[in-house]
Formats: sequence, C-alpha cells, structure tokens
Amino acid sequence: MGSSNYNIILIFLCFSNLLRFIASSASGDDHNINYNEGGDFVECLTVQLESSNSATDDLIYTPNNSSSYASLLIAQNLRPGSTSPYDKPLIIFTPFYDYQIQSAIYCSKKLRIQIRVRSGGHDYEGLSHTSRDNPFVVVDMRNLRQISIDAEQKTAWVQVGATLGQLYHTLAQKSGTLAFTAGVCPTVGIGGHLSGGGYGMMSRRHSISADHIIDARIMNVDGQMLDRRSMGEDLFWAIRGGGGTSFGIVIAFKVNLITVPETVTVFNVTKTYEQNATQLVHRWQYIADKVDDNLLMRVFLRSVRSLTTGKRTVIASFTTLYLGGVEDLMPIMKEKFPELGLVEKDCTEMSWIQSVLYFAYIPNQPLDVLLNRTTPFTVYFKGKSDFATEPIPVDGLIGIFRFLREEDENMAEIQLSPYGGALNSFSESETPFPHRTGNIFMIDYGLSWDSPGKEEAEKHLNWMRRIYGYMAAYVSKSPRAAYFNYRDLDLGVNDYSSGNTIGSYDEAKVWGMKYFKNNFERLVRVKTKVDPSNFFRNEQSIPPFPLPPLYSS
Ligand SMILES: *[C@@H]1O[C@H](CO)[C@@H](O)[C@H](O)[C@H]1NC(C)=O
Ligand SMILES: *[C@@H]1O[C@H](CO)[C@@H](O)[C@H](O)[C@H]1NC(C)=O
Ligand SMILES: *[C@@H]1O[C@H](CO)[C@@H](O)[C@H](O)[C@H]1NC(C)=O
Ligand SMILES: *[C@@H]1O[C@H](CO)[C@@H](O)[C@H](O)[C@H]1NC(C)=O
Ligand SMILES: *[C@@H]1O[C@H](CO)[C@@H](O)[C@H](O)[C@H]1NC(C)=O
Repeated sequence: MGSSNYNIILIFLCFSNLLRFIASSASGDDHNINYNEGGDFVECLTVQLESSNSATDDLIYTPNNSSSYASLLIAQNLRPGSTSPYDKPLIIFTPFYDYQIQSAIYCSKKLRIQIRVRSGGHDYEGLSHTSRDNPFVVVDMRNLRQISIDAEQKTAWVQVGATLGQLYHTLAQKSGTLAFTAGVCPTVGIGGHLSGGGYGMMSRRHSISADHIIDARIMNVDGQMLDRRSMGEDLFWAIRGGGGTSFGIVIAFKVNLITVPETVTVFNVTKTYEQNATQLVHRWQYIADKVDDNLLMRVFLRSVRSLTTGKRTVIASFTTLYLGGVEDLMPIMKEKFPELGLVEKDCTEMSWIQSVLYFAYIPNQPLDVLLNRTTPFTVYFKGKSDFATEPIPVDGLIGIFRFLREEDENMAEIQLSPYGGALNSFSESETPFPHRTGNIFMIDYGLSWDSPGKEEAEKHLNWMRRIYGYMAAYVSKSPRAAYFNYRDLDLGVNDYSSGNTIGSYDEAKVWGMKYFKNNFERLVRVKTKVDPSNFFRNEQSIPPFPLPPLYSS
C-alpha cells in the first residue's frame, strides 16, 4: 500500500500516523487516590446490586485489582490527567445490564462522588477516564455492546459500548452492501462518536453518523430509562451531536443503515514538497467539497525523512474513497483534478469492508481484527480542529509546512477533511452539529510525543498553540468553529472550584459557540430541563442555567 520511500511505520492508528511504542503507564503512580472513598463506593454498589439480585462478580474493579484495573484503563492518549491528582478513577464499574447503571447513579448521589461514562476511551482530552479536580468513578460501557441488525428495514440497534470496528464487522457478516457512515478508527466507541457527530470517509455522500440516529435509549438522572418517545424531541435532538454525557447515560442508539456498492475504489497518492505538494493542496481546495458526492479525498500532511535522499521533507497524501468502480472514477479525476496525475494503477477496487481495513492501516487482515478493542500504541497526544470556509492561499500553506518541519518527523500530522455534499443537506440547527453549508474542509491538527514530563509536554503544546495562532487568519471566524469530537480544553473549561457545581453559562458559551454555534443556547435549555442540578458534568459539559435566586436555597 502506498509508496515506501519514506521512513514511516504504519500502525493501527487513530489519532495520527505515529510510530513509537510506549509502555502504558496506566499502572504508574497512584497519586493520592483515597482508598477509603473507593471502599465506600464499592460497599454501596455491592449492596445496591445485590438488592436488585444482580451478581457482582466481574463488575467492580479497584486499584486493589491492580492488573485488571490497569488494563481496563489503557487509553490511547497518555496526556490527559497526566498532571492531575485525579488522573485515575477510584473504581471502574463495568455493567452488563442497563439496570445495573441505576446502582451507580444512586451511589454517586449518595456519596457525592462523580461518575464519568466511557464507551471507547478515545476522547482527545480523556474526559471519560480522568478528571482535573474531582475524585470519580468510571462507568465503563464495554460490556454493553450488543448490536442487532434488521437487514430488511436497514436499521440497527447498537449499544454504546460497541466499537466502530465491531459495528463494521457485524454489518459485513450480514451483507456485502449494508454499511454505516462513521469514522475510520475501529477502536473508537459508538457512544462518544455518534453523540458528538461522526465524520468518516463516506460523509460527503452520507453525512455524519448522528444524522442517521432514529431512536435512542438513555438513562436519566433519576435512573429512568427513556426512549425517543418518552424523552421527547428536545432531548433526542441534543444527543445527536451535542454529546451524550451532559444529559444522561445513553445506552443504545437505533440508526438507519446505508447501502454501498459491491465495489468501491481507494487510492492514496503521496506527493512531496518538491513534487509540488503545495500547488496540489491549493488546487484541491477548489474541488474537494464540490466534486461528485461519492468521492471523498482526504489530505494528510506530514513531515518525513526520505529513505532515498535522507532529507527531511513534507508530504501530502491524498487518501481517497470513491463509492463506485475505477472506470467511473477516472473520468471524474481527469476532469476535476487532472493536476494530481492519477492513473488507474494508483487505484484499487475492493469491497467496502476491505476499504474499512485499508483506511484503518490494517489492510488485507482477517476481519476479526476489527473486534479487537485494544489500541497497540499509546502516546502523549494533543489535537485541535478548525474549519476552512475559503481556500488557504499558497503562502498560507507554505507556512503550515514550515510548522510541520519544526516538529520531529512523523510526530505532527494535519488532516484536511472535505465537507460539502450530504453534510449540507441539513440546516445548521437541525441537529446540534452546526458545520454545514459554507465549509470547504475541516482541519484536524494532531501532535504526538513519547516522553513523559511537564517540560516535554510544554514544548509540544507550545507548538500547537503557535500553529493554531498562525492559522487564525485562514479559518472560520466569529465563532472560530471547532469539531466537538476533536475535543480541545484550550477552548475553555467549566470551573467547579470553590464548590460551584453548576458551572457558568457565560464561560461555557465561549467554547460552546465554537462547537455548536447558535445551537448552544438550545443545548443549555435542554440541559436545564433534564438535569438542572448538573449531576452529569465534566470539564466541558453543557451547563444548566442557574436556578433563579428565588428558588435556589
Ligand atoms: C483495597 O485494599 C485495602 C486493604 O485490603 C482496603 O483497605 C481498601 O478498602 C481496598 N480499596 C478498595 C477501593 O476496595
Ligand atoms: C477486586 O478485588 C476485590 C477485593 O479487593 C474483590 O472482592 C473483587 O471481586 C475483585 N474484582 C474483580 C473483578 O476481580
Ligand atoms: C510544479 O509546478 C510548476 C508550476 O505550476 C511546474 O512548472 C512544474 O513542472 C511542477 N513540477 C512538478 C515536479 O510537477
Ligand atoms: C498513504 O501513504 C502514506 C505515505 O506513504 C502513508 O504513510 C499512509 O499510511 C498511507 N495511507 C493509507 C491509508 O494507506
Ligand atoms: C489486539 O491488539 C493488541 C494490540 O495490537 C494485541 O496485543 C493483541 O494481541 C490483539 N488481540 C487479539 C485477540 O488479536
């Protein structure tokens, strides 16, 4: 696959194409975990579970169960929480049945220990398994991962603890042409991905995952299980792009499936700076969001060392899926993007599920690899996002390349993901995901490093701040939009210090407008209705409006 002229090690990647192995540090320092608080929670949970006749085996993990606790905690990104005393949960609770979650909600209220819900663990900021300032318990949804497909109706119920890989695998077992539109990384959890949007290689033809949700099951703050009808259209609207965790614990989504052709075509053409990568990326911006909806050309920018010349250079990989055969693709490319010089032998025809493996950097492997939930590489990672509403001029692109050369080879990656097509068939307010008409492409800045330590982190985070500052001139403004699933706490956080557990609407509005634009206000209204006391909260959850003074005590 692709050319191997560059010193690149392919990995099972999701954040970036990154490359060195680091032993997980999940079993590292325990900082100041308070074992007593954990013990109280275990006791409460055990009593509750037993009173609902639930077995408690294999459900509760504490730091005392050291190796299983540590392996459950493994997440791809080591950075979040690495400097917080609350980097690890007191307890990891892994329910098998939805009613068992009621016990966790009950004990959380009784003991005033926060819960965080985790479905896959890919949150860029680790909000599902670390905290900045509170002891907490993780409700890990990995055992709630049933998928049931109705091939006739072309729908599926998917529990949130399933991964994208498991969903793709289950679809492929059922049929060669039933598919779902979602991201490329197989170990990402359904819960976070679908509730926050869900961009993927078919998004120009089929939009994002959240646009295909037709029903959901969610447990509210009172431990009641709701479906679309009983939750009402406001809450159902909120969890299709506004994130699930602010509003309750989503257990499952029902989605509309899509049909894909038996044959799709992929290519991954890479050009170096010396081969006019700059001009090609510049030109790409004029067609990326306008070409045939079946065609999605993503661009990956990276700095590498050429194996042939030994010199550092910057490369642009045009990583592409076309929903159709190569004979239909070639004329489109010749007409719309002849500059790329695509020839038939750059292209490979395959089934859609094979393309899933291809874009996940695990081509030609047995399909079962999609069921593996473990990510083999863990690194320190920071991500950010932007939206381009106008083409970036050539000198702007050259500046990006300059930044890429500054960081170690392969450690920084910038992804340009085209919009347009089906993404524009929704209005900005139809779902909380507001990035519709007017966007040419989304930018994902990813930076990884592999040594621990504050100084090391600061050096890389500084690079990220500088490139983000540099890019301000070229991207969307007022608000400078960001993609919720590329979570970024630099945009602002809820401040719960000094006992304030409600957060501040005005402070949250700063980051909320970037993710959701004018939908933020409606999200706050929904939150106020379903969780006025802000039981479900994290550093970047939707706050409720404060109670009017008359009613607050
Ligand atoms: C861990 O073990 C210690 C010693 O047996 C015990 O005191 C503590 O309560 C346990 N912690 C949890 C969270 O169960
Ligand atoms: C964890 O250890 C406790 C004793 O500290 C034990 O009661 C519990 O069953 C263990 N949990 C698992 C899942 O092994
Ligand atoms: C790069 O582009 C310039 C001008 O657009 C052109 O003259 C030159 O031949 C191109 N070089 C390569 C290697 O394609
Ligand atoms: C595309 O090519 C680049 C450069 O050779 C490579 O690093 C990347 O992994 C390839 N992408 C895919 C999806 O194969
Ligand atoms: C799952 O992936 C991890 C990381 O690559 C690997 O160590 C493990 O052996 C895999 N498990 C299975 C069952 O293939």
